[in-house]
Parts: sequence; structure tokens; C-alpha cells
Amino acid sequence: MRIILVGYGVVGQSLTYILSHSRLSNLKEYGFNPRVVAIVDRKGAAIDSKGLNLREVLRVKKEKGTVSVYPRGGKPGIGSLEVIETVEAEVLVETTPTNIENGEPGLSNIKTGFKSGKHVVTTNKGPLAIAFPALCELADYNKVNLRFSGTVGGGTPVLEFAKKCLLGDKINSIHGILNGTTNYILSEMEDKGLSFQQALDRAKQLGYAETDPSMDIDGIDPACKVVIMANWIMGKKITLKDVKFKGIRNIALETLSEATKRGKTVKLVGSIDGDCKVEPTELHRYDPLCVSGVLNAVKFVSEFAGEETIIGRGAGGKETASAILRDMLDIRHNLANKLLS
Ligand code: HSE
Repeated sequence: MRIILVGYGVVGQSLTYILSHSRLSNLKEYGFNPRVVAIVDRKGAAIDSKGLNLREVLRVKKEKGTVSVYPRGGKPGIGSLEVIETVEAEVLVETTPTNIENGEPGLSNIKTGFKSGKHVVTTNKGPLAIAFPALCELADYNKVNLRFSGTVGGGTPVLEFAKKCLLGDKINSIHGILNGTTNYILSEMEDKGLSFQQALDRAKQLGYAETDPSMDIDGIDPACKVVIMANWIMGKKITLKDVKFKGIRNIALETLSEATKRGKTVKLVGSIDGDCKVEPTELHRYDPLCVSGVLNAVKFVSEFAGEETIIGRGAGGKETASAILRDMLDIRHNLANKLLS
């Protein structure tokens, strides 16, 4: 499988690290033979139709700050759209940062991938939050797959759990702690008595927060995840403008300590239950959603199986790259089935 990787930050680099390590030779058991033929960052690209040497690319990126000076195949200044259009590959992996104003550059990258016949795996929530229904239609029209497991729950298979493990059941509602940064802030405030600002500063130092932390603390990031789950799991054709969201920016220590006295705790909960919203919510301390630190937890209530909660790490480079790997294997599986049918 030939892969173009666009966006070479923490997630993209983690993916190449995973792919370049021999302990994953078990991938061959799935008939999966990934070959990364192009990597694009802000300054240009590294291209090799025979497959890039990923350890070498990682070294060049760390030492020089860009892949565009990769020996034999570095192309300074070339843009992502030109690479996607002209380099032959089966899959485009898109990991540029989330932008909820207009979805760019992810939206154009994904659309160009579809139009040039490539399956797309993305971890970018912006294009999905803005245009989920339209992007699914465009993928169908071009007869390609769109996958995005890493957009919700990091490496925790939240979307697959609902879509594959609850197959045949009807999911009636979803409630979730969908943002690790805000959960970390609330936990630090509650457990250690830190102020909101102190806890946010720690979250930034630890690298949990988005480039623009208002994405986390104002509830925008979990609202994007609500859009993705509502569309993919519940079949609702909504976009970000249909989600009411409120963050934790103004939460006071007293509010948290009052809740503790009553055996409760305040969490930023995203929900799809009639309407779609994100807001600080009091939960009973023994509610399975009450995870602490950067964990995410999502509770599904389905018609027959009842209540199930999936818990795991909701962020991180290697974790999110593991979701990309699953998506690529899923596409590989679909391609193989198509050949057999
Ligand atoms: N900033 C996000 C979080 C990263 O804290 O959950 C994963 O989407």
C-alpha cells in the first residue's frame, strides 16, 4: 500500500516511527505492506516512489526541521495539493492541525485526495466538524474510503467500538469525557486545589493542550468530536453549528468543592441525547464516566446491550498514530474484499 503523509507534526512523526520499527513485522500477517512514498510538511516534501527510508526522514526532520531537505527526493517549497495530485498512492494520511474556521488546509487536502482516487485517513477534526455529511458524499462519489478513528479518543477505539462491537444494536444516547486537557485541568483543581490558570499552565507544559488551548477550554474540541460521533454512529447529518457548547473557562474552585461535598464531581461532558451539546456537568463520583487526568471515557446506551463505557487515553502522538494504523488496515481489508467479490 503506497501512502502519502501530509502534516508531519507529533502524530505524523509517531506514525513513521511505528512503521519503521521491525517489531511491527506482524503487520505482514494482515497482508499489509505499507510504503510511504511522500511526506509533506510546511516547507516542502520528501518524495520517493520506491518508498522513503523512514528512519532517515525522521532524522532529517529532527536535525533540519523539515523533510524537504531529505537527500535524493527532497523538494523544498512544493505544496501538499501538488503532491497529492501528482504522486501515485492508494492512501492519503492527513494530519495537519485542526482549524474550525474554514477547515483548511485539511479540507482541500482531503478533497484533492478523493478527486485523485485516494482513500483518506485523517486525524484532523476541522474538516469533519465543518463538512462531515458533504465529505462522506464526496468519498462515496469518488468510490474511496474516508476513515478518522484518531479524531475521537486518540488511540482508544471509541468509533470502532460503537460501529463494530455494537453491530445490529441501536445506540440511543452517547455521553462522554471527550477532551483530555479539560479533564486534566478539572482533576488537578479538584484533587490538588490548583487554580484554573495553574492547572492550564501544567496541561500546556505536558503537551496535552491544542496549539490554541481555547479549542480545549471553551469546549470546541469536544464539540467537534460530538459532531463526528453523531454523524458516524447515530446517522445524524449535523455540523459544528448544530452543537451547543460551553467550556470550563469560568469554573471556580468553590463550584468543584461544593460538588465534592455532595459526593459529586464536575466534568466537561459531550452528549448526543435528543440534542447535541457540550457543557460542564455534575456526575456522581461512582459514575463510570468519572475518569481522572487526561483519560477519555464514552458511555453508550443501546437498546439491547444496555450501558457500556469505553475508557482510554484520548490524546498523544503514538496513541493517535495507532488509530491511523487501524484505519489503514481497515482500508486494506476493504480493498482485499473488493478484489475477492
Ligand atoms: N487537545 C485534545 C485533548 C487532543 O486534550 O483531548 C486530542 O484531541
